[in-house]
Amino acid sequence: MRSRLGAAPSGTAVRHRRPAAGAPTLAGVKILSVVGARPQFVKLAPIAHAAAAAGVEHVIVHTGQHYDPMLSDVFFTDLGIPAPDVHLGVGSGSHGVQTGAILAALDAVLDEHAPDWVLVYGDTNSTLAAAVAAVKLHVPVAHLEAGLRSFNRAMPEEHNRVLTDHAADLCLAPTQVAMEHLAREGLAERSVLVGDVMTDVLFATRDAAAGDVSSLLAGAGVTEGEFYVATVHRAENTDDGARLRWIAAALESLDRPVLLLAHPRLVAKSAEAGVTWGGGSVRLHAPLAYPQLVAAVSASAGVVTDSGGLQKEAFLLRVPCTTVRTETEWVETVELGWNVLAQDADAVRAAVMRPRPPSTDATPYGDGEAAARVVAELLAR
Ligand code: UD1
Repeated sequence: MRSRLGAAPSGTAVRHRRPAAGAPTLAGVKILSVVGARPQFVKLAPIAHAAAAAGVEHVIVHTGQHYDPMLSDVFFTDLGIPAPDVHLGVGSGSHGVQTGAILAALDAVLDEHAPDWVLVYGDTNSTLAAAVAAVKLHVPVAHLEAGLRSFNRAMPEEHNRVLTDHAADLCLAPTQVAMEHLAREGLAERSVLVGDVMTDVLFATRDAAAGDVSSLLAGAGVTEGEFYVATVHRAENTDDGARLRWIAAALESLDRPVLLLAHPRLVAKSAEAGVTWGGGSVRLHAPLAYPQLVAAVSASAGVVTDSGGLQKEAFLLRVPCTTVRTETEWVETVELGWNVLAQDADAVRAAVMRPRPPSTDATPYGDGEAAARVVAELLAR
């Protein structure tokens, strides 16, 4: 594969053509996935593998929303995802500029590839833009991870997921709670519970990455079982200097070293607000590739985050999580006691140092076979 998948210059469409497929495709069915941001590459991996296993033609379009290699290329490499067929190279921008650029660029791509299904993932600007592009061209569109709700209308992710669900022809829900949200919004008829594809990829990666952790921890200067993993990147945290300051103070004061995996948005917004990181318990670190992240979380004493995916990954790995947000879409993690929402520095400290939650065998996020169900649903319709 090419080494600079995510690095197409802004505004240009670079096409990565795959070698001609040897095997015939299943009845000529063609699925076109649109992805652009880090969590979408993780979800794409099991779908790409399930599509290949089913003999379905699968076109991958990378919008270029995330372009740093550590937020993009490494996921393709590590998770065995084929190189994108099309790269839109849109890069960063305000919501309108970024969403609009993707929307405009996709018309020609959908015309050229004429897929049977467009598959969109999660809740980013890439998700919404692709859903709208497909609907306008009367191409059936399926939304993977449909039905999640924070009920916080200030969040860009909430706008994106609600609008995408209502544009989609098929809502692929990860949980029973998501199915209930979709039903309440009148979308039951077009919704199906498939489970969570992040469970698929997490279990596969956890098993493959076992034993890989010591050099990572040594490099980061932390000891197995005696550190926390932290991430902060959501706009409601990063774009508010006062919140950033108390989050930094809380992390600095924790009782063990905190491996803070700094998203570019955190770095940029902290510089603007004059917030510095690395004092007290905090050890600043670049974002990790997915297998390293799974290994680091598994080896940690706890997670502090505002990421959606990481809350769930912590639960699936049975690592206690503290979420620096006012609400979560993954309510099962809270109900089962493995996740606590914390909204000030004292609450973060108390939540991180709480006793270990009760053990549980609950599987609210499925059995690790969701991607095969997704592909089967698309073929059945
Ligand atoms: C986006 C998604 C969010 C998802 C997150 C995962 C939206 C509205 N938000 O947030 O749902 O949880 O991705 O990471 O779609 N930047 C870089 N390099 C990159 C990408 C971004 O430096 O490769 C910086 C830029 O300054 C950019 C900022 O991060 O302006 C924000 O990027 P953006 O794509 O707007 O949103 P994220 O915060 O990454």
